Amino acid sequence: MNRINNRTLYLLLMAFGFLVVSCANEEAATEVSSPTGINTISFHLSADGKPQYVVKHNNEVIVDTSSMGFDFKNHPSMEAGFKLVSSSTSETKETWEMPWGEQREVVNHYNELVVNLEENKAPKRKLNIYFKAYNDGIGFRYEFPEQEGVDSLVIMDENTEFQLTEDYTTWWIPGDWDIYEHLYNTTKLSEINALALVDNDNLAQTSIPENAVNTPVTMRGQSGIHLSFHEANLTDYAGMTLKVDTKTQKLTSELVGSDRLGYKVKRALPFVTPWRTIQIADKATELIDSKLIVNLNEPNKLGDVSWFDPKKYMGIWWEMHIGTASWDYGMTRDNDGNWVDSGKAHGRHGATTENTKRYIDFAARNNIKGVLVEGWNTGWEHWIGFEDREGVFDFVTPYPDYDLQEVVKYGKEKGVEIIMHHETSAAPRTYEQQLDTAFRLMESLGIHSVKTGYVGKIIPKGEYHHGQWMVNHYRKVLEKGAEHQIAINAHEPIKATGLRRTYPNAIAREGLRGQEFNAWASDGGNPPEHLPIVAFTRMLAGPIDFTPGVFDISLPTKENNQINTTLAQQLALYVVVYSPIQMACDLPQNYENQPAFQFIRDVGVDWEQTKVLAGEVGDFVAIAREERETGNWFVGAITDEKKRDITINFDFLDPDKTYKAVVYRDGDNAHYRNSPLDIVIEAAEINSGTTQTFKLVAGGGLAISLIAE
Ligand code: NOJ
Ligand code: CA
Repeated sequence: MNRINNRTLYLLLMAFGFLVVSCANEEAATEVSSPTGINTISFHLSADGKPQYVVKHNNEVIVDTSSMGFDFKNHPSMEAGFKLVSSSTSETKETWEMPWGEQREVVNHYNELVVNLEENKAPKRKLNIYFKAYNDGIGFRYEFPEQEGVDSLVIMDENTEFQLTEDYTTWWIPGDWDIYEHLYNTTKLSEINALALVDNDNLAQTSIPENAVNTPVTMRGQSGIHLSFHEANLTDYAGMTLKVDTKTQKLTSELVGSDRLGYKVKRALPFVTPWRTIQIADKATELIDSKLIVNLNEPNKLGDVSWFDPKKYMGIWWEMHIGTASWDYGMTRDNDGNWVDSGKAHGRHGATTENTKRYIDFAARNNIKGVLVEGWNTGWEHWIGFEDREGVFDFVTPYPDYDLQEVVKYGKEKGVEIIMHHETSAAPRTYEQQLDTAFRLMESLGIHSVKTGYVGKIIPKGEYHHGQWMVNHYRKVLEKGAEHQIAINAHEPIKATGLRRTYPNAIAREGLRGQEFNAWASDGGNPPEHLPIVAFTRMLAGPIDFTPGVFDISLPTKENNQINTTLAQQLALYVVVYSPIQMACDLPQNYENQPAFQFIRDVGVDWEQTKVLAGEVGDFVAIAREERETGNWFVGAITDEKKRDITINFDFLDPDKTYKAVVYRDGDNAHYRNSPLDIVIEAAEINSGTTQTFKLVAGGGLAISLIAE
């Protein structure tokens, strides 16, 4: 009975062997699901010990088996040959408060899986991977723990794969190492061709070495699922672009490099990489609701930041972009037609004491608390086109026609704070040398915010705006700023990766094709679909200094340019595009006696809560936000080049309150091309029981103020 023949023994052993193998696999295959179970990440090692992961949403595979690894300069690649030493899971649920933001409270609820890996062979290097599963997406990051024999790593590339399972409709900009100021393209994933966009005469710098895209990059699948790929907490590391394999629908991380240093990242151990993130939503509007990116950052490091107040601001700015004033004080052309510093005032300088006072007066009368002044300091004679830009800008010396102390004092008397401007002309070493002095000057004057700029190719040569060296520069400015109670609004920045949670003084940034392109871009400015795409791409990363509010839409001084929106859409942008600083960018004289300007006077900049009411990527979006303290609500809706009806259910309003409602809508004959100024402004009866349909014309918009009574 107990006789076991050879064959049975063989089968038993086989079964046993199989069991052992599958057991080992089972231990290695570790999984974590989001709190509701909607998103699941599974980690495993391939047969040859390659770290791999799979992501499922609603039990559908959305990222199929994808490998993770690194190439180094001073070590062999990390690719395969790993074993799983241990793993653990945990749940975290916390609520934190934004000092200012799209909403007051943010819930941070996720399940985490940590896998601790070690190479089988000497030198048995260690690598840990952290996975976090949220209901609104997933994130993972690598940790290089302290270990014997490895002090530092020089990363030549990170090879994180995202094996997609569908040829998604994709909204993308090229994986430019120097600038994000591209128009979005809408194509299938398989049709992405970033290299075709290399020539762009609208950009002061651009470098697109691969067929890659920048993030956030957003996609929509057949089922209506939406994915947006990005990164969170980009610290002491290179920015990540995503290389696209159009044939296999695979994305692979492609870090921004440094031609000067010959690598992508250099770090001493231990260190962690930024989080690689995927926001996952069943409908487009949920992407805007998602707080994944800020949640994957560390809590506020600065403590009390009440020295900064969210505000609307005006600026000596648009007049330079439309060409009626200049940043410089004394540029003239010599006999050969070259621009030279004449040393004498040419009379078109925008940043004069007198002009600044004019802006301050207007702001003070109109509930606007900040005035930005560009072109106030010496150096602009050597700005664009000059190769040798180091040592040119001076961040403390005003031009002779600008009395800094006087305008600051004048503003203070009227409740208006000057916003400092530091154009570095992409010479960060010069800026760093003067940072302390420049920020001390600001502190002594009680100036709490600065707009920085980095136009041009980075000096030193071989560095790019989005590489590790510049990532560290931008961070230094943030940290130094915090020491002096200064908030930073960076133009030509590194992308937002949710650091505003840790450093709330990272108030806003550009990092997209802003309003300025409407003034001068040779392609006729931003098309009407631009902002309905931005709301679901760039805006997922964080606050945008888009600078809305052009009223003189046809730009009489610019023959070939106009704003490709209606006036009602310019108003709607104050609600749709989030930023704790919102510019009213047009000239004071263009706002005088304009009934529509009342919306800009009234609209809030800091929100208790946000409701994304409706939207589709690239088509339209409607958002309602409740202002902190006042309980006033504001609604903004924008559409692309197609007219459409939007039905709004006002059930978000407090049923116990009454509101004084004013609707600013496109007139019946409005159109962004021919009649952008046709606007209807009317009082309305709106309460929490109201449902109403509004017409948006081509390139149009809708803005509603609901002032709590
Ligand atoms: C580019 C910025 O985006 C723009 O707002 C600014 O006026 C110029 N640089 C000058 O600094
Ligand atoms: Ca810019």
